[in-house]
Amino acid sequence: MKLLVCGGAGFIGSTFVRERVRVHGDELTVLDKLTYAGRRENLQEVESDIKFVHGAIEDPEAVAGAVGDAEAIVNFAAETHVDRSISGPEEFIMTNMQGTHVLLEAARERGLGYLQVSTDEVYGSIEEGSFTEESPLQPSSPYSATKTGADLLVSSYFHTYGLETVICRGSNNYGPHQYPEKLIPLMVLNALAGDHLPVYGDGKNVRNWLFVEDFARGIGHALLHGAPGEVYNCGGPDECDNLTVVRRIVELCGRDESLIEFVTDRPGHDRRYSLSSAKLGALGWRAQVRFDEGLARTVEWYRDNAWWWDPIRSGAYRDYYERHYGRALKA
Ligand SMILES: NC(=O)c1ccc[n+]([C@@H]2O[C@H](COP(=O)([O-])OP(=O)(O)OC[C@H]3O[C@@H](n4cnc5c(N)ncnc54)[C@H](O)[C@@H]3O)[C@@H](O)[C@H]2O)c1
Repeated sequence: MKLLVCGGAGFIGSTFVRERVRVHGDELTVLDKLTYAGRRENLQEVESDIKFVHGAIEDPEAVAGAVGDAEAIVNFAAETHVDRSISGPEEFIMTNMQGTHVLLEAARERGLGYLQVSTDEVYGSIEEGSFTEESPLQPSSPYSATKTGADLLVSSYFHTYGLETVICRGSNNYGPHQYPEKLIPLMVLNALAGDHLPVYGDGKNVRNWLFVEDFARGIGHALLHGAPGEVYNCGGPDECDNLTVVRRIVELCGRDESLIEFVTDRPGHDRRYSLSSAKLGALGWRAQVRFDEGLARTVEWYRDNAWWWDPIRSGAYRDYYERHYGRALKA
C-alpha cells in the first residue's frame, strides 16, 4: 500500500513504519514536525526505503506537499504526554484537534482512506470490567480531551461526507524508542543510572500494557480489515499497577527497591484503564507479547542502546525533568 504516515518519527509511528516496510513492503511517506518526541534516529533502519517530509499536520501546505499518491493517511501525530497537557494545553489543541482537521480535509479532497490512531484514555477511568467501543467518552485530561475531540471529528467526516475512516484506540504502550518522560522508559533509565524512581501517589494506578509492536500490527490490521466508520479497541494482554511495574524494572536492572520514591500525584490521575479488544479480535488480531516478556525485551533494548537515549538524557529533557520533579537527574 502507499501510505502517508503522520507522526511516523515518534515511538509508535516509527514502529509501525518499520513493520509496514519490512513485513509488508509498503511505500511510505512520513510527515513529522520533529517535536522533542520525534526523532529521525527512530527511522534510521528504514531511512532509504521511505520518503521523509519535515512538516506539521496543522499546516495544509505541508500536508498537500507530502500526500503525493498515497491511498490512505494514517495519523499518529500528536502531543502525547498528559503531564505536559496539564501545564500547557495549547499545543495539544493545535496538533491533536486542528491538525486532525487539516488531515481529514486532505483525505476528503482526494478521496483517501483515513486511520486515526487514538487511545483508551478517551473513555476515562474504569473501576472494574473493560471498555468496549460503545462505552461513553469521558476524557479527564487536556490530552485525552483533545484526542476525544479528534475522534469525534473523524467520525463526523464518515457520517457527513462518507469519508472512509477507521479509529484504532490503543491501551498503554511500552517498548523500544519510547521517550523517557513516560513511565516505563523513565523508570528503566533511572534504574540503570541508579537514580531515584518517582512513583505518583500510591502507585496503584492500573494500566493495560500493550507491547508497541502488537499495537503497530493492530493498527495495520484495522487499516486493512476494519469497516469504514468503525472504531476498534486494541488492548494489551495484561494489567499491572504502576508500583508493580516499577518493582519488576528494579529487579530486571539489578537494583534495590530503596530507589523508589512516592511523589505528589498527577492532578486528575485516572485510576484504571482497561480495554476489551474483542471487536479487533474478531477480525483476526491478537496481542502476541505478554507483559513479562515485553518488559524484559524493553529493559534489554535500553541497556544496549545508550546511543539513542544519551542525547535525550543530557539535553533539554534534563530541564523538563528538574522542573517537573523538583530535582536534577543524575549525570
Ligand atoms: N504511547 C501510548 O501509550 C499510546 C497509547 C495509545 C495511543 N497512543 C496514540 O498514538 C499516537 C502516537 O503516540 P506516541 O506514543 O508514539 O507519541 P510520541 O510522542 O512518541 O510521537 C508523536 C510524534 O508526532 C510528531 N508530531 C507531534 N506534533 C506534530 C505535528 N503538529 N505535526 C506533525 N508531527 C507531529 C512528533 O514529532 C512525534 O514524532 C498518538 O496519537 C497517541 O495519542 C499512544
